[in-house]
Amino acid sequence: MKKTIIVSSPGKLIIGGEHAVVYGRRALVTSIGMRLYMQLIEEEEDKKKKMINISFHDTNKSYSIDLLNLTDSYPIEIQAIIFIYNYFKSNNEINLQIRSNIPIGTGLGSSAAFSVCLVGCFYILNFKKIDQDEINQLAYQVECIFHGTPSGIDNTISTYGQSLVYSRTLKKHINFHLSNLAIIDTGIPKSTKRMVDLVRLFVEKNQIKAEQILHDIEICVDTMIEHPEEINQLFQRNQQLLKDLGVSIIEIDNIIQILADNNISAKITGAGGGGCLIALTSSFTKNQILDLLKENHIKSIEFVECGVEGLREEQNFFSN
Ligand code: PMV
Repeated sequence: MKKTIIVSSPGKLIIGGEHAVVYGRRALVTSIGMRLYMQLIEEEEDKKKKMINISFHDTNKSYSIDLLNLTDSYPIEIQAIIFIYNYFKSNNEINLQIRSNIPIGTGLGSSAAFSVCLVGCFYILNFKKIDQDEINQLAYQVECIFHGTPSGIDNTISTYGQSLVYSRTLKKHINFHLSNLAIIDTGIPKSTKRMVDLVRLFVEKNQIKAEQILHDIEICVDTMIEHPEEINQLFQRNQQLLKDLGVSIIEIDNIIQILADNNISAKITGAGGGGCLIALTSSFTKNQILDLLKENHIKSIEFVECGVEGLREEQNFFSN
C-alpha cells in the first residue's frame, strides 16, 4: 500500500555562543515559529523502481533521480537525500515534497530543519514512530554533508524544539523567553563554512587571545541564563567578542551602532559575515526600526515566536 508521511521542524536563533560552541563551549539557542514541511510518499510495493522524485515548492525546482543510473553530479541537498535513501536501504519509488518559511542561508537553521525532516520522514516510514535521539544523531550526519563539521546545535534544536543550553556534551532544556526580539535580515549573503574556517584560522594563529575570547563568550552565555535582566549588556558584550573573533563586517557594525544609538542592543545570530542579526527592540515597532535603518538596505525585519515544538508529524502538507 502507498504510504504517506508528513513532518515539520523549526528554524532557530542562537541567542549567544555561536562559534564558541564549535570549540565545545556552551551556547544558548531557541527554536522559532518558522518551519520547514516535508512530505514523503512511498509508492506501491509492486512498483519496485529505485526512483526519487523531489519537488521544492519555494524555488519551483524538481528532480527525478534514477538511483540505478546516477549520472549527473547533484546539488548538495539532493546528495543528502540520496545518502538517507541508501542509509535506510530503501528500494521503492519515493516522492518528496518540500516547502519552507525559513529563509535560506541567513543563519536561521534552514539546512538543519531540512536535515531533521528528511531523516524524520524516512525514520517514521521504517519504524512508525519518532525517536528524537536517533533522528538527531543521523540528522547531524546530514548536516556534515552541508557544513563539514558543525557543532550540532542547529539539528539538535530543530529536533527537540523549545530552548536549549547546548554544547557538544550537554543538551539541557531551559525556560527562556525574550519579549520584543526582532530578527533583522541584513540581506548580505553569508557562508557558515567560510566563517567557521575564518575563525579556525584565527584560533590557530592567536591561541591565547582566542582562548580568552571563547571563554568570555561562554561566560556571556552563562550570565544570559542566570541573569536574564542583564540581557541588553550581554548582547553588546557577545557582539563585541564576535567582532574580536573576526566574524562581523563593516555593514553589520554600522547597523549595530545605529541601533545602539537608539538604545537597541543587537548582535549577530549564527555564523556572521552577513545573514541575520537579533535585536532587543523594547517598544520600537517594525516600521520605526526600518526607518532607523533606511540607509542600510535591510531585507526584512520579523518578530517571531520562540521556544516552539521540534520535529513533529503533520496531517496535511499545506495546512500551515
Ligand atoms: O549556520 P549558522 O549561521 O546558523 O551558524 C551555525 C553556528 C556556528 O556556531 C557558527 C557553527 C556551528 O556549527 O555551531
